[in-house]
Amino acid sequence: MKTRGRIRAALGVSLATTLLAACGTGTGSGDDEVAAPKVGDFTGRGPISFVSGKDTTGTTPELIKQWNEQHPDQKVSFVELPEEADQQRQQYIQNAETKSDAYDVISVDVVWTSEFAAHRWIEPLPESEFGTDKMLDPVVEAAQYRGQLYGVPNYTDAGLLYHRTDLMKKAGFDKPPETWDEMREQCEEILTLPEAKGMSCYAGQFEKYEGLTVNFAESVQSAGGSIVGEDGKPALDTPEAKEGFSNLVDGFSSGMIAKEAITYEEETGRQAFQKGDLIFHRQWPYQYSMANANDGSSKVAGKFDVAPLPGVDGPGSSSLGGWNLAVSSFAKNKATALDFIKYMTTEQMQRDKLIDDGYAPSYAGLYEDKELIEEYPYLPELKESILTAEPRPRVVRYGDTTAAIQDEAYDALTGEKSAEDALSSLQSRLSGLVNGP
Ligand code: GLC
Repeated sequence: MKTRGRIRAALGVSLATTLLAACGTGTGSGDDEVAAPKVGDFTGRGPISFVSGKDTTGTTPELIKQWNEQHPDQKVSFVELPEEADQQRQQYIQNAETKSDAYDVISVDVVWTSEFAAHRWIEPLPESEFGTDKMLDPVVEAAQYRGQLYGVPNYTDAGLLYHRTDLMKKAGFDKPPETWDEMREQCEEILTLPEAKGMSCYAGQFEKYEGLTVNFAESVQSAGGSIVGEDGKPALDTPEAKEGFSNLVDGFSSGMIAKEAITYEEETGRQAFQKGDLIFHRQWPYQYSMANANDGSSKVAGKFDVAPLPGVDGPGSSSLGGWNLAVSSFAKNKATALDFIKYMTTEQMQRDKLIDDGYAPSYAGLYEDKELIEEYPYLPELKESILTAEPRPRVVRYGDTTAAIQDEAYDALTGEKSAEDALSSLQSRLSGLVNGP
C-alpha cells in the first residue's frame, strides 16, 4: 500500500456550528445580485499560527514541521483548540471580537462559513489560485458566501451507516437496511444471535452539541422533510419532520438506540462501535480506517461495511459536513497564510490525508482513482453520500439556530417532551432566527 506511513488516526476534530447566510439565495455561486466583495489584501510574510480543533491524528504537527523546514522565515505554529466544534467557534468569535492577531489560518466548519464571512472575520479568497474547479461542487459551495470563496476545503464529510456484515450474514441478511423499518427488523433477528449478546441496535451522536443538530437534520430530511423550507421559513410543522424525528425519539424509548448514545459524540461512538457494542452506527468517514485497524485497537476490523443512511421509503440523506481553511481578517502575515493554505489543500495532500487518516477528500478525481478504490472500496458510495448531502440551515444566526435545535431535540430524546411538542416549539423558536428570502 501507498503511504507516508500510516499515522495513528483518530478524529480530532469534532463539531461545529454556525452560520449565516443565506437568506434565500444568499450562498453558493450564482448569486449575481450581490456584488462579490473585493478579494482580501494578501500581503505580509513572516511567522503565522494555524488554529484548529484538537488533532488526535498526529498528522498536523508533521505537516507543519515539513513546511517549517522549507520556510524558516515563515514558520507556522500550531494552536490546538478543544475537540468540540461549538467550543472552537466560541474561541474564534472571542478572537475576532477583540480583533486579535493571534490566529492566522483557521479551520472553519462548513456551517460557520456564512456567519464568519458576513461578520468579516475571515478574508474573501482569490478562488482562481486554488484547485476548486477540480473539487465536488457542493463542497465548494459550502465554502462560499454569496458566491465568493472564504475557505479552501481541507476535507469534506458525509454520514454513513456502518453495519456489521458478519452478524447480518449470520442472521441471513445480505444487504444493509435502506429504511428505519428494515433496520429495526434486521436488529430484531440479529439480537437473537448468541454473538450479539449485550449489543445495541443503533447509535449516532446525541450528546447536546453540533453532532445532535446533524443527527436531527438527517432524521428529518431522510423522511423527506427539511429544517428550513424553500421559502426560507422553518418547516418543522410538517408530517415528514414528525415522521423522521420520531424515528429517533421512538428509537430511544424502545431501546432500539443504545441508551448510552445520549452521551455520544463522534469519538465515544467510535469507541463503542470498535468494541463491538453496536450493530449499526451513523458516523463520518474517518471511522472506516480506524475501525479496520489490525493493531488490536478494533474488534470489528474486516467485519463491517458502509452504506447510505436509512430513510423512510428508501435510503435517507446525510448532512453535509467538512472543514475549510480560512485566513483571519486580523492576521498580519496574510501572504504566508495564503501560501500555507495552498500547501495544506493540494490534491496530493488530500490523497495522503485519506490514506493516513481516512478524511474524505474534496477533489472529485480521487473518487475515481482505481488504486484508491481498491484500497477503499467505499469511495463511490461516499461520493454519492456527499453529493446527496444537505447543508444545515444557512442562516445568519446559526449559533442561536443550532442551540435551539439542540435544546428541543435533546428534550424529546430524553423524554422531557414529545416529538410533536419539541418540533412545534422549535418551529416557533426558529421563526425569529431563519428569515424568509
Ligand atoms: C464533523 C463535520 C462537521 C460537523 C461535526 C459535528 O466534524 O465535519 O461539519 O459540524 O462533525 O459534530
